[in-house]
Amino acid sequence: MGKPKVVLGVSGGIAAYKACELLRRLTESGHDVRVVPTASALHFVGAATWSALSGHPVSTEVWSDVHEVPHVRIGQQADLVVVAPATADMLAKAAHGLADDLLTNTLLTARCPVVFAPAMHTEMWEHPATQENVATLRRRGAVVIEPAVGRLTGADSGKGRLPDPTEIFEVCRRVLARGATEPDLAGRHVVVSAGGTREPLDPVRFLGNRSSGKQGYALARTAAARGARVTLIAANTGLPDPAGVDVVPVGTAVQLREAVVKAAADADAVVMAAAVADFRPETYATGKIKKRDGQDPDPIVLVRNPDVLAEISAARPRPGQVIVGFAAETDDVLANGRTKLRRKGCDLLVVNEVGERKTFGSEQNEAVVFGADGSETSVPFGPKEALAETVWDLVAERLG
Ligand code: CTP
Repeated sequence: MGKPKVVLGVSGGIAAYKACELLRRLTESGHDVRVVPTASALHFVGAATWSALSGHPVSTEVWSDVHEVPHVRIGQQADLVVVAPATADMLAKAAHGLADDLLTNTLLTARCPVVFAPAMHTEMWEHPATQENVATLRRRGAVVIEPAVGRLTGADSGKGRLPDPTEIFEVCRRVLARGATEPDLAGRHVVVSAGGTREPLDPVRFLGNRSSGKQGYALARTAAARGARVTLIAANTGLPDPAGVDVVPVGTAVQLREAVVKAAADADAVVMAAAVADFRPETYATGKIKKRDGQDPDPIVLVRNPDVLAEISAARPRPGQVIVGFAAETDDVLANGRTKLRRKGCDLLVVNEVGERKTFGSEQNEAVVFGADGSETSVPFGPKEALAETVWDLVAERLG
């Protein structure tokens, strides 16, 4: 089998320079990449750069190499088309089926998955015309990555930045791996919690846990690649924001509860992958707790934190919502898993078999997913994203 063929469409925005990094990642990971810039994109990065980095000739319009019918062939042969950056103008053209250059022609002839990574000023992104175009493209099955929030071209900042090229690459990799499968979470809003909460004792100390957040981030990335709008409630992870994901940073269990309850109000699915502290210190010392010579330390009195998973499972803020919990068990996995599923009242419970080689922070995981309907799905030891895909398969089945 030859290398997967990727078309990298580049439209005319300042973020075009970031597409060079995306191109590099794609070629270095074994993809055959054909760059199709628009004429305006060449104002930002020249054809020589695209040609040298991709190893292919570059043209913007349909009148070069006409005998090869490039406006049809490039799209037909592609396994993936990714447009990064996608300007407001490009989204409008794609949504309306205009075909006045090589890239827009390619978008019409491509039958493979298409990913758009928009970048523009906040006002342009939020304009109803752009939002309707994005909705149209998503309805037709394209993956439109939400722009990142941050510094824009000038001194201003807001939503509209092109996400980090490494993260766009991750989305492309996942979309390619799914092949011609439809983005089955398109139009859905999913909420994922990740990481571990920290319960402060004084300004320098906290009670915490070893959760790295990697499983939750894998869930967020895979959901975005399957077309979902993703809200990631991230507790103390220190991981880079995944592309197209709204990240809400939180510290404590109480803050996590507030963020999850708010985001869950209009969510189709909630996946609680975070390790939430069951207890917090009853009092918080505003000054550092000092040791005193000859005196025993004061005991730390703990109080219960809210059980977020049980609370949202009972409240079901939206009808038909699918709620997923996680649990780490060492013994009696099957019996403990079933009991916990009933106690929490969720629809699915992913039970990690915690063992010696399956430690917090590792890249791999092994699990059994219990369904409230009696189903039981084993996920063999493997990458956390494989487990994430299985979780979304089970969620998508239940969402119908
Ligand atoms: N969870 C939660 N709120 C808490 C504690 C846990 O929402 N205060 C969620 C976790 O995000 C996870 C699930 O509940 O999805 C199971 O967590 P786990 O710690 O295994 O369950 P516990 O209720 O703490 O059960 P046990 O003490 O028996 O281990």
